[in-house]
Amino acid sequence: MNLPMPDRKTADLPGHWLFARLGKRVLRPGGLELTHRMLADARLTGVDVVELAPGLGRTATDILARNPGSYTGVEADTNAAGAVRSAIGSRGRVVTGEASQTGLDADSADVVIGEAMLTMQTNAHKADIIREAFRVLRPGGRYAIHEMVLQPHDVPDAVKDEVRTALARSIKVNARPLTAGEWTELLTEAGFAVEKIGYAPMALLEPRRLVADEGLPGALRFVFNVLRDSDARARVRSMRATFRRHRDNMAAIEVIAVKPA
Ligand SMILES: C[S@@+](CC[C@H](N)C(=O)[O-])C[C@H]1O[C@@H](n2cnc3c(N)ncnc32)[C@H](O)[C@@H]1O
Repeated sequence: MNLPMPDRKTADLPGHWLFARLGKRVLRPGGLELTHRMLADARLTGVDVVELAPGLGRTATDILARNPGSYTGVEADTNAAGAVRSAIGSRGRVVTGEASQTGLDADSADVVIGEAMLTMQTNAHKADIIREAFRVLRPGGRYAIHEMVLQPHDVPDAVKDEVRTALARSIKVNARPLTAGEWTELLTEAGFAVEKIGYAPMALLEPRRLVADEGLPGALRFVFNVLRDSDARARVRSMRATFRRHRDNMAAIEVIAVKPA
Protein backbone atom coordinates (compact mmCIF):
# COMPACT_ATOMS: atom_id res chain seq x y z
CA MET A 1 0.00 0.00 0.00
CA ASN A 2 1.33 3.48 -0.87
CA LEU A 3 0.70 5.64 2.18
CA PRO A 4 0.04 9.39 1.93
CA MET A 5 2.99 11.81 2.12
CA PRO A 6 5.69 9.13 1.71
CA ASP A 7 8.48 11.75 1.40
CA ARG A 8 7.51 13.82 4.46
CA LYS A 9 9.86 13.52 7.49
CA THR A 10 8.40 11.93 10.64
CA ALA A 11 8.85 15.18 12.54
CA ASP A 12 6.63 17.09 10.10
CA LEU A 13 3.95 14.53 9.20
CA PRO A 14 0.33 15.32 10.09
CA GLY A 15 -0.61 13.12 13.07
CA HIS A 16 -3.04 10.89 11.17
CA TRP A 17 -0.50 10.04 8.46
CA LEU A 18 2.17 9.45 11.11
CA PHE A 19 -0.21 6.98 12.79
CA ALA A 20 -0.80 5.33 9.42
CA ARG A 21 2.96 5.01 8.82
CA LEU A 22 3.27 3.37 12.23
CA GLY A 23 0.61 0.81 11.32
CA LYS A 24 -2.49 2.40 12.87
CA ARG A 25 -5.65 2.17 10.79
CA VAL A 26 -8.32 3.84 12.97
CA LEU A 27 -7.61 7.56 12.59
CA ARG A 28 -10.50 9.21 14.43
CA PRO A 29 -10.93 10.61 17.94
CA GLY A 30 -13.71 8.40 19.31
CA GLY A 31 -12.28 5.15 17.93
CA LEU A 32 -14.18 2.17 16.54
CA GLU A 33 -16.66 2.19 19.42
CA LEU A 34 -18.09 5.59 18.48
CA THR A 35 -17.87 4.69 14.77
CA HIS A 36 -20.01 1.58 15.33
CA ARG A 37 -22.60 3.53 17.33
CA MET A 38 -22.69 6.18 14.57
CA LEU A 39 -23.08 3.57 11.79
CA ALA A 40 -25.95 1.92 13.69
CA ASP A 41 -27.63 5.30 14.23
CA ALA A 42 -27.18 6.17 10.52
CA ARG A 43 -29.17 3.05 9.43
CA LEU A 44 -27.23 1.88 6.36
CA THR A 45 -28.78 -1.40 5.24
CA GLY A 46 -30.08 -1.26 1.67
CA VAL A 47 -29.46 2.48 1.18
CA ASP A 48 -27.04 4.58 -0.92
CA VAL A 49 -24.07 5.67 1.21
CA VAL A 50 -21.40 8.30 0.49
CA GLU A 51 -18.35 8.47 2.74
CA LEU A 52 -16.35 11.72 2.76
CA ALA A 53 -12.62 11.33 3.48
CA PRO A 54 -12.48 7.56 4.05
CA GLY A 55 -8.72 7.73 4.78
CA LEU A 56 -7.34 4.18 4.54
CA GLY A 57 -10.79 2.58 4.19
CA ARG A 58 -11.22 1.11 7.68
CA THR A 59 -14.77 2.50 8.09
CA ALA A 60 -15.54 1.71 4.43
CA THR A 61 -15.27 -2.02 5.21
CA ASP A 62 -17.51 -1.58 8.28
CA ILE A 63 -20.06 0.28 6.14
CA LEU A 64 -20.01 -2.53 3.54
CA ALA A 65 -20.50 -5.12 6.28
CA ARG A 66 -23.88 -3.48 6.92
CA ASN A 67 -25.00 -4.23 3.34
CA PRO A 68 -25.76 -0.75 1.96
CA GLY A 69 -27.40 -0.47 -1.47
CA SER A 70 -24.23 1.25 -2.74
CA TYR A 71 -20.97 2.77 -1.41
CA THR A 72 -19.12 5.81 -2.81
CA GLY A 73 -16.02 7.26 -1.14
CA VAL A 74 -14.70 10.78 -1.81
CA GLU A 75 -11.07 11.16 -0.66
CA ALA A 76 -8.73 14.08 -1.36
CA ASP A 77 -5.45 12.20 -1.04
CA THR A 78 -4.57 10.08 -4.08
CA ASN A 79 -2.65 7.41 -2.15
CA ALA A 80 -5.39 7.14 0.49
CA ALA A 81 -8.01 6.82 -2.27
CA GLY A 82 -5.92 3.94 -3.69
CA ALA A 83 -5.82 2.29 -0.25
CA VAL A 84 -9.63 2.51 -0.01
CA ARG A 85 -9.98 0.98 -3.50
CA SER A 86 -7.76 -1.95 -2.42
CA ALA A 87 -9.77 -2.34 0.80
CA ILE A 88 -13.19 -2.51 -0.87
CA GLY A 89 -12.43 -4.00 -4.32
CA SER A 90 -15.45 -3.99 -6.59
CA ARG A 91 -17.96 -3.53 -3.74
CA GLY A 92 -18.03 0.25 -4.18
CA ARG A 93 -16.37 3.14 -5.97
CA VAL A 94 -13.93 5.77 -4.78
CA VAL A 95 -13.63 9.24 -6.28
CA THR A 96 -10.39 11.18 -5.72
CA GLY A 97 -11.52 14.68 -4.90
CA GLU A 98 -12.56 17.44 -2.57
CA ALA A 99 -15.45 16.82 -0.16
CA SER A 100 -16.92 20.28 -0.75
CA GLN A 101 -17.15 19.60 -4.51
CA THR A 102 -17.82 15.89 -4.84
CA GLY A 103 -19.18 16.03 -8.39
CA LEU A 104 -21.92 13.65 -7.22
CA ASP A 105 -25.52 14.25 -8.29
CA ALA A 106 -27.85 16.26 -6.07
CA ASP A 107 -30.38 14.15 -4.11
CA SER A 108 -28.46 10.94 -4.87
CA ALA A 109 -27.62 9.54 -1.42
CA ASP A 110 -29.54 8.41 1.66
CA VAL A 111 -26.62 8.69 4.07
CA VAL A 112 -23.43 10.81 3.99
CA ILE A 113 -20.73 9.86 6.51
CA GLY A 114 -17.62 11.82 7.47
CA GLU A 115 -15.16 11.09 10.28
CA ALA A 116 -12.25 13.19 11.54
CA MET A 117 -12.31 15.42 8.48
CA LEU A 118 -14.35 18.53 9.35
CA THR A 119 -12.34 19.39 12.49
CA MET A 120 -9.23 19.98 10.36
CA GLN A 121 -10.93 22.57 8.08
CA THR A 122 -11.43 26.29 8.62
CA ASN A 123 -14.96 27.12 9.79
CA ALA A 124 -15.79 28.49 6.32
CA HIS A 125 -14.64 25.25 4.68
CA LYS A 126 -16.51 23.16 7.27
CA ALA A 127 -19.66 25.01 6.15
CA ASP A 128 -18.84 24.35 2.44
CA ILE A 129 -18.53 20.61 3.09
CA ILE A 130 -21.72 20.50 5.18
CA ARG A 131 -23.60 22.31 2.38
CA GLU A 132 -22.28 19.76 -0.12
CA ALA A 133 -23.48 16.88 2.09
CA PHE A 134 -26.91 18.56 2.21
CA ARG A 135 -26.98 18.91 -1.60
CA VAL A 136 -26.00 15.28 -2.23
CA LEU A 137 -28.56 13.87 0.25
CA ARG A 138 -32.12 13.03 -0.69
CA PRO A 139 -34.83 14.67 1.44
CA GLY A 140 -35.06 12.64 4.67
CA GLY A 141 -31.40 11.57 4.25
CA ARG A 142 -28.96 11.47 7.16
CA TYR A 143 -25.55 13.11 7.60
CA ALA A 144 -23.45 11.29 10.20
CA ILE A 145 -20.29 12.90 11.54
CA HIS A 146 -17.63 11.83 14.08
CA GLU A 147 -15.37 14.72 15.07
CA MET A 148 -13.56 16.41 17.96
CA VAL A 149 -15.65 18.46 20.39
CA LEU A 150 -14.71 21.12 22.91
CA GLN A 151 -16.23 20.88 26.39
CA PRO A 152 -18.04 22.15 28.42
CA HIS A 153 -20.55 23.95 26.19
CA ASP A 154 -19.50 27.33 27.68
CA VAL A 155 -15.74 26.73 27.52
CA PRO A 156 -14.03 30.15 27.58
CA ASP A 157 -12.56 31.47 24.32
CA ALA A 158 -9.08 31.56 25.88
CA VAL A 159 -9.26 27.81 26.58
CA LYS A 160 -10.51 27.12 23.03
CA ASP A 161 -7.51 29.00 21.65
CA GLU A 162 -5.12 27.18 23.99
CA VAL A 163 -6.45 23.76 22.91
CA ARG A 164 -6.33 24.66 19.22
CA THR A 165 -2.76 25.95 19.49
CA ALA A 166 -1.65 22.85 21.42
CA LEU A 167 -3.26 20.55 18.83
CA ALA A 168 -1.73 22.42 15.90
CA ARG A 169 1.71 22.15 17.51
CA SER A 170 1.54 18.48 18.40
CA ILE A 171 -0.50 16.89 15.60
CA LYS A 172 0.79 19.34 12.94
CA VAL A 173 -2.73 19.90 11.64
CA ASN A 174 -4.68 23.11 12.10
CA ALA A 175 -7.41 21.32 14.04
CA ARG A 176 -10.30 23.56 15.02
CA PRO A 177 -12.67 21.49 17.16
CA LEU A 178 -16.02 23.10 18.07
CA THR A 179 -18.40 22.82 21.01
CA ALA A 180 -21.52 20.67 20.54
CA GLY A 181 -23.52 23.90 20.23
CA GLU A 182 -21.22 25.21 17.51
CA TRP A 183 -21.40 21.91 15.55
CA THR A 184 -25.20 22.02 15.84
CA GLU A 185 -25.26 25.63 14.65
CA LEU A 186 -23.15 24.86 11.55
CA LEU A 187 -25.42 21.94 10.65
CA THR A 188 -28.69 23.79 11.22
CA GLU A 189 -27.43 26.83 9.27
CA ALA A 190 -27.07 24.49 6.26
CA GLY A 191 -30.68 23.28 6.68
CA PHE A 192 -30.18 20.09 8.73
CA ALA A 193 -32.15 19.11 11.85
CA VAL A 194 -29.99 17.44 14.50
CA GLU A 195 -31.47 14.04 15.42
CA LYS A 196 -28.88 12.64 17.81
CA ILE A 197 -25.65 13.57 19.59
CA GLY A 198 -23.33 11.08 21.32
CA TYR A 199 -19.88 11.30 22.91
CA ALA A 200 -16.76 9.22 23.58
CA PRO A 201 -13.55 10.13 25.38
CA MET A 202 -10.59 11.37 23.32
CA ALA A 203 -8.43 8.32 24.11
CA LEU A 204 -6.73 7.68 20.77
CA LEU A 205 -3.35 6.84 22.29
CA GLU A 206 -4.45 5.15 25.51
CA PRO A 207 -3.56 1.42 25.72
CA ARG A 208 -7.15 0.18 26.13
CA ARG A 209 -8.39 2.17 23.11
CA LEU A 210 -5.37 1.11 20.99
CA VAL A 211 -6.21 -2.56 21.59
CA ALA A 212 -9.94 -1.96 21.01
CA ASP A 213 -9.22 -0.17 17.71
CA GLU A 214 -6.31 -2.13 16.26
CA GLY A 215 -6.62 -5.55 17.96
CA LEU A 216 -3.84 -6.88 20.21
CA PRO A 217 -1.39 -7.77 17.37
CA GLY A 218 -2.05 -4.37 15.68
CA ALA A 219 -1.56 -2.47 18.95
CA LEU A 220 1.70 -4.35 19.66
CA ARG A 221 2.95 -3.65 16.12
CA PHE A 222 2.15 0.06 16.59
CA VAL A 223 4.02 0.16 19.93
CA PHE A 224 6.99 -1.70 18.40
CA ASN A 225 7.11 0.73 15.46
CA VAL A 226 6.98 3.71 17.85
CA LEU A 227 9.72 2.32 20.09
CA ARG A 228 12.21 1.70 17.29
CA ASP A 229 12.01 5.21 15.81
CA SER A 230 13.14 8.07 18.07
CA ASP A 231 11.43 10.80 15.98
CA ALA A 232 8.15 8.87 16.04
CA ARG A 233 8.57 8.29 19.78
CA ALA A 234 8.94 12.03 20.39
CA ARG A 235 5.90 12.85 18.23
CA VAL A 236 3.64 10.23 19.82
CA ARG A 237 4.74 11.24 23.32
CA SER A 238 3.97 14.89 22.57
CA MET A 239 0.55 14.06 21.09
CA ARG A 240 -0.40 11.86 24.03
CA ALA A 241 0.74 14.54 26.50
CA THR A 242 -1.42 17.13 24.66
CA PHE A 243 -4.49 14.84 24.67
CA ARG A 244 -3.99 14.13 28.39
CA ARG A 245 -3.33 17.74 29.37
CA HIS A 246 -6.52 18.93 27.69
CA ARG A 247 -8.70 15.89 28.37
CA ASP A 248 -11.24 17.90 30.41
CA ASN A 249 -11.88 20.15 27.39
CA MET A 250 -11.65 17.66 24.53
CA ALA A 251 -13.73 14.64 23.50
CA ALA A 252 -15.14 12.92 20.42
CA ILE A 253 -18.66 13.66 19.21
CA GLU A 254 -21.11 11.83 16.96
CA VAL A 255 -23.89 13.86 15.35
CA ILE A 256 -26.71 12.48 13.20
CA ALA A 257 -28.34 15.32 11.24
CA VAL A 258 -31.35 14.93 8.94
CA LYS A 259 -32.21 16.78 5.72
CA PRO A 260 -35.90 17.61 6.14
CA ALA A 261 -38.23 15.53 3.96
C1 LIG B 1 -7.78 12.14 10.19
S1 LIG B 1 -7.96 11.36 8.64
C2 LIG B 1 -9.47 10.43 8.92
C3 LIG B 1 -9.61 9.28 7.97
C4 LIG B 1 -10.83 8.38 8.20
N1 LIG B 1 -12.07 9.12 8.04
C5 LIG B 1 -10.78 7.77 9.59
O1 LIG B 1 -11.53 8.22 10.45
O2 LIG B 1 -10.01 6.82 9.81
C6 LIG B 1 -8.51 12.69 7.61
C7 LIG B 1 -8.84 12.30 6.19
O3 LIG B 1 -9.54 13.36 5.56
C8 LIG B 1 -9.07 13.53 4.24
N2 LIG B 1 -9.47 14.91 3.87
C9 LIG B 1 -9.13 16.04 4.52
N3 LIG B 1 -9.72 17.10 3.97
C10 LIG B 1 -10.47 16.63 2.93
C11 LIG B 1 -11.31 17.25 1.97
N4 LIG B 1 -11.51 18.56 2.00
N5 LIG B 1 -11.92 16.47 1.05
C12 LIG B 1 -11.72 15.12 1.04
N6 LIG B 1 -10.93 14.49 1.92
C13 LIG B 1 -10.30 15.23 2.86
C14 LIG B 1 -7.59 13.27 4.37
O4 LIG B 1 -6.97 13.00 3.13
C15 LIG B 1 -7.64 12.06 5.30
O5 LIG B 1 -7.85 10.87 4.58
